[in-house]
Amino acid sequence: MNISIILAAGEGTRMKSKLPKVLHKICGKPILEYVLNASKGAEVQKNIVIVGYGGEEVKEYFKEEDIIFENQPIGEDAPYGTGFAVMQGLKHIDDESTVVVLCGDTPLITKETLNSLFEYHKQGDYACTVLTAVLEDPTGYGRILRDDKGNIKRIVEHKDATVDEQKIKEINSGVYCFNGKLLKYGLGKIKADNAQGELYLTDVVEILGKEGYNVGAYIVGDSVEIHGINNRVQLAFCDKVMRKRINERHMLNGVTLIDPETSYIEEGVTIGRDTIIYPNVVLEGNTSIGCNCIIRSNTRIVDSSLADGVVVESSLIEESIVGEGTKIGPNAHLRPKSHIGKNVKIGNFVETKNAKLGDNTKAGHLAYIGDAIVGRNVNIGCGVIFVNYNGKDKQITKVGDNVFIGSNSNLVAPVNIEDWAYIAAGSTIVEDVEEGALSIARAQQINKQDWVEKKGLKNKN
Ligand code: UD1
Ligand code: CA
Repeated sequence: MNISIILAAGEGTRMKSKLPKVLHKICGKPILEYVLNASKGAEVQKNIVIVGYGGEEVKEYFKEEDIIFENQPIGEDAPYGTGFAVMQGLKHIDDESTVVVLCGDTPLITKETLNSLFEYHKQGDYACTVLTAVLEDPTGYGRILRDDKGNIKRIVEHKDATVDEQKIKEINSGVYCFNGKLLKYGLGKIKADNAQGELYLTDVVEILGKEGYNVGAYIVGDSVEIHGINNRVQLAFCDKVMRKRINERHMLNGVTLIDPETSYIEEGVTIGRDTIIYPNVVLEGNTSIGCNCIIRSNTRIVDSSLADGVVVESSLIEESIVGEGTKIGPNAHLRPKSHIGKNVKIGNFVETKNAKLGDNTKAGHLAYIGDAIVGRNVNIGCGVIFVNYNGKDKQITKVGDNVFIGSNSNLVAPVNIEDWAYIAAGSTIVEDVEEGALSIARAQQINKQDWVEKKGLKNKN
């Protein structure tokens, strides 16, 4: 059985944050989630996550996931270090299992790399295989020391390394495969006799090597995968790399991104074929976009579902559902629980909230449609307001099919407008309107003839 131990107990001091490091997000998801997904996507049958600082928060976030959590004791007197962290997971490891150790702060690792690592480890019959990388700037990482035959002798931490050792460009990624039995054996022998006074997992490599076991090194194909996050500069770096991966995945699936550099598409968003995304679009959370949609610039869509053929221009859509062929914007705001039907038009400066709009309904300009159930083929004129709030609570307005609501009308909830009713422009509707009726609810117009002349206003200058 392949088992992962994912280290996520570190303090993450350099993040300068109250949030545990592994809960910081890139492309909308905590960095730990990417590590977990890589592990789950690879040939790993059991995932153990070691938590410590902010552990309760981490456990709460991932409570739905199939993970075993272990707490690393923390505090002044507690030991510290990657070796000590791994020890916390050992009770779940049998001698026969293969253990892959991963860092919770290295989100760019892929399942393909993990599978290749397993393969290499197995083929070479190694006691331990270290995933390494060759970096132009290896500063901060542990360096790989090899013997004449090319076998790994030892890993030396940057802080413990001599000037010559610091020149080595091959580094320890922090990802390893271990034979279960030998991992336990090696961890039983490590000591905190180093610059940081920590129990280093890396010392197990040296111990096994000295005792004649084979230690392998598998050099990662693309060294970007092993970039860790210790501060927010690295967080931004990983976010950018991940964003590029996500965008490329969508493009290869048949989505056009006109300027991928400016497409911000979070992990988990789905987009159908032949949809076109213009520059400066943000798609967040649990969002799905259908086929043949056009999402124009300066649009942000959050936790929403758009059917095929929807066109959106410079708008904000939150927690809403939009039907096929509907056109939104420019400058519309769909607030949570807007259920918009097919071929609907939501135009300039229209705001909806907790509103159902039937197919073919149109609200072209400047309207507020809140707490509403609106039928099909309804025309909502310019400046119409669904007056849903009386200062105390929210009330529902119902509008049937084929209703015409003239411009600048107020529909004061609770009120029902039945099918085929017409509301005259400028009306304030407080009573129900029955099917097919015309309702005019505004002051009668009076024209006083020759009033200006009689007042002597005409020859004023
Ligand atoms: C570690 C490696 C180094 C490697 C680098 C790759 C050791 C001694 N060094 O160094 O060789 O090049 O990773 O990124 O292993 N953690 C715990 N509990 C602890 C300490 C750490 O869970 O007591 C976790 C951290 O949360 C983090 C991971 O282990 O996810 C790595 O710890 P970190 O302190 O970042 O190690 P590095 O100094 O980067
Ligand atoms: Ca690190």
